Amino acid sequence: MARAAENLSLSVLLLLSLLVFPVFGRFVVEKNSISVLSPESIAGKQDSAIGNFGAPDYGGSMILDVKLPEKGADGCKPFETSFKRMNPKANPTVALLDRGGCYFALKVWNAQNAGAACVLVADDRVEPLITMDSPQEDEKAAEYLQNITIPSALIEKTFGDQIKGELAKKQTVTVKLDWSESLPHPDEKVEYEFWTSSNDECGAKCDAQVDFVKNFKGAAQLLEKGGYTSFTPHYITWYCPDAFVKSKQCQSQCINHGRYCAPDPEQDFSKGYDGKDVVTENLRQLCVFKVANASNKPWVWWDYVTDFHIRCPMSEKKYNQECAEKVIGSLGIPANKVRECMGNPDADTSNPLLKSEQDAQVGQGARGDVTILPTLIINDRQYRGKLDKGAVLKAICAGFKESTEPPVCLSDDMETNECLTNNGGCWKSTEANITACKDTFRGRICECPTVQGVQFQGDGYTYCEAVGPGRCKLDNGGCWSETRNGQTFSACKSSHLKGCDCPPGFHGDGKKHCEDVDECKEKTACQCADCSCKNKWGGYDCTCKGGLLYMKEQDTCIGKGSGRLGWFAIFVIVAAMVGICVAGYAVYKYRIRSYMDSEIRAIMAQYMPLDSQSDVHQPLREGL
Ligand SMILES: *[C@@H]1O[C@H](CO)[C@@H](O)[C@H](O)[C@H]1NC(C)=O
Ligand SMILES: *[C@@H]1O[C@H](CO)[C@@H](O)[C@H](O)[C@H]1NC(C)=O
Ligand SMILES: *[C@@H]1O[C@H](CO)[C@@H](O)[C@H](O)[C@H]1NC(C)=O
Repeated sequence: MARAAENLSLSVLLLLSLLVFPVFGRFVVEKNSISVLSPESIAGKQDSAIGNFGAPDYGGSMILDVKLPEKGADGCKPFETSFKRMNPKANPTVALLDRGGCYFALKVWNAQNAGAACVLVADDRVEPLITMDSPQEDEKAAEYLQNITIPSALIEKTFGDQIKGELAKKQTVTVKLDWSESLPHPDEKVEYEFWTSSNDECGAKCDAQVDFVKNFKGAAQLLEKGGYTSFTPHYITWYCPDAFVKSKQCQSQCINHGRYCAPDPEQDFSKGYDGKDVVTENLRQLCVFKVANASNKPWVWWDYVTDFHIRCPMSEKKYNQECAEKVIGSLGIPANKVRECMGNPDADTSNPLLKSEQDAQVGQGARGDVTILPTLIINDRQYRGKLDKGAVLKAICAGFKESTEPPVCLSDDMETNECLTNNGGCWKSTEANITACKDTFRGRICECPTVQGVQFQGDGYTYCEAVGPGRCKLDNGGCWSETRNGQTFSACKSSHLKGCDCPPGFHGDGKKHCEDVDECKEKTACQCADCSCKNKWGGYDCTCKGGLLYMKEQDTCIGKGSGRLGWFAIFVIVAAMVGICVAGYAVYKYRIRSYMDSEIRAIMAQYMPLDSQSDVHQPLREGL
């Protein structure tokens, strides 16, 4: 069954085989309370364990009527009948299902589809409450897990049996589920931790985590900037037992001589990235937070993590220091400080930052150990429910005392413009007022814009380039252009849809530089014996000695003395052309003439005898 602690230890053993958690799991079951309001006979308060998917109503409560399915008590198959309330005045329905037969999430999904507002799963054995989770092996669940929007909770077997007993007597059982005390609110600030990993290739769970960070970023940054929350990112690490430090597995998965390890992303030591790369990037992300926090901008971590994921994915083989430092640079964080904070991963010493992460993994007080990724801890309690902006924001907001919530808890619209500082780390044209920074409700994003109908394309961070017609009008299409002494040259050609080419007489990349080509020095023009070459910007002047004429096409000087051949050629050409014209005219004249003559003759012949005809008839006339 999908029991988080079992689930974890199993997958840890399978996946890592050698790596070990600093301390083994004391998993705390987060609870909410459930009270039976009626019937009297079973009224009272009970505990239930909040399911780790769907959306628990943190800070709120629901009053519901319990309903059993007509068929399929375990809820493993889609229900044929509806859980919807018949009467709009009645309470919404909570489906009571039996544990067993399939994973928990599937039961909840089926009940939600049949109109249930909430799901209670009754345990099938007498034992302390456990947390319902969706195991990573359950790949089918990935399709619907994020679509579960109702809360769910597990109740003890005896309590389930009591409810069923009343329902059998045709009693209406009304319960109140209450999440308002699921989170403590010890002070004005909500402290929360997000336990995550930079590994971006672990299937649906990694994708959901990345989506969450992207979607939640805007709210997280607002809460942090407003001083409402105090957020810290955390990273789980494993360690390699002493005896195996020299093994191939530990070498490829650990840094600092087996002290800090992460599982291999593809679970294949021979290819792709290794666990070592993941711990190193995790350490870098911790250091980014530390350095950013030291300058009182802890929220920059959210930008770094989302940008790193977009710009440096494993799939493009960019998951490395070089790419990371580009992102760090574009966010205005000093890269040398981050490097300094990371220390030397090859050294046989402990890293204070990772050491404290390992210590923090172990639960204290009410919290329990962090054993699953991702884990969100709000006011020292583990958040249960899906990682979704709305659900998490609700939970964080439930951490404030009533009426001390920040505005973002009350409405979703946010008023900040992150593009105003450092252009949000996005691309910006150096010449024109054109930027890729866009302020959205998810925080800022870097996306090449469309300006005056001209589309820009690129990564949005380091470059955007105008493409298509009209591009040369804007910022000269991002191409080089220069004016000297009233003469302008440009590397943007409207006839090309993209790219920059230095105009003739220049060479360079076309974007930043086009330099004049010295045709004289490079001997590409004006090379005849009689010419003298003088370079000028964008071209050259070529003059011929002795008053001769320079012919650019032939790159030669022509004149009476030395150019006899040239004059003769021209004479021949001119003569030939004159000849052709004369001949053409003659042919034209003759042909038209003879054609018209014959035509006129034919017409006239119909009206009067012509000379030739009279000739024919003459002998007859003579005879008359
Ligand atoms: C989940 O929701 C998304 C969008 O809201 C939808 O495209 C998808 O088909 C849903 N998945 C299932 C299994 O219903
Ligand atoms: C972040 O900075 C604040 C104040 O500068 C400090 O009190 C806090 O301990 C820092 N947090 C971390 C995790 O370094
Ligand atoms: C740049 O453009 C934006 C929007 O297009 C405008 O609000 C801003 O005032 C412009 N800045 C300058 C310096 O022209």
